[in-house]
Amino acid sequence: MNGRDFLTRPGARPFLSLVSLALLAGWFTAFVNLYLSYAPLDGEPGLGLRDIEYHFHGNRNTNRFASMINGPMAENFFDPNDIPWMTEWALAPGRPDFDPEAHRRVFEERVLPVLEDDCQLCHVEGGKADFAPLTSYEEVEHLLQVDTGPDTAALARFSHFHLIGMGLLAALTGLLALVFLPIPAAGILSCLPAAGLLLDVGGWWLTRETARAAPLVILGGGLFAAGIVGTHLLLQARLWGPGSRR
Ligand code: HEC
Repeated sequence: MNGRDFLTRPGARPFLSLVSLALLAGWFTAFVNLYLSYAPLDGEPGLGLRDIEYHFHGNRNTNRFASMINGPMAENFFDPNDIPWMTEWALAPGRPDFDPEAHRRVFEERVLPVLEDDCQLCHVEGGKADFAPLTSYEEVEHLLQVDTGPDTAALARFSHFHLIGMGLLAALTGLLALVFLPIPAAGILSCLPAAGLLLDVGGWWLTRETARAAPLVILGGGLFAAGIVGTHLLLQARLWGPGSRR
């Protein structure tokens, strides 16, 4: 049975049309989810190369402590003038001239008194943020590590979910294109999603090594989107548009 015969069966058109809309909506909501979780990373509106870079390569200009005191925790400082020098102090471990002795001394003399006055209301045993106590150098130290992006285990987990989930979407969409769409559109559209997916996920791994690979992720996502959206819109037109009964 070919695609045309299949469409003559009762119920075939609504069935295909609904499945196609569900798949399109599945892609769209995945995109919205991705947009909402990546777009805020660089502090600028919209999804850009920076967001991709920060997600996969890490934002190597900052660390957890520095980004929190310049972000959501800034309002807890009684004196906002404490933020700039404390940021410098927090970023020192990544610098070539880093002096661990001096760093610890500045912690005891200047940082700890501010933490006691401004932060330990919550960042202490039994406080609102007792999962992250800020009462000693050791407790603060691990928050000063530079963000170098996801580790191999995290990226592998993320990749396999994405490759299998999106791979199924690419497979179904490609098969629908090959069976129901005219040549040559079918040939091109059926390959786009899988090609885009491989480029996208390959781009994640490369971007983790070098930030310059971030455009591959955007290109891969773009090809994937073009294949999915193109196929499902043409399929709807083929099912219900002019000439669809032939
Ligand atoms: C009113 C309670 C409160 C005060 C006061 C407060 N924090 Fe927080 N802090 C939180 C909460 C709740 C979180 C977790 C929220 C989140 O992760 O977005 C948090 C998270 C953090 C983190 C991230 C911890 C981690 O393990 O990821 C840092 C660093 C931090 N705060 C620093 C500070 C500093 C420095 C001060 C003082 C200037 C401060 N906070 C004052 C409630 C507080």
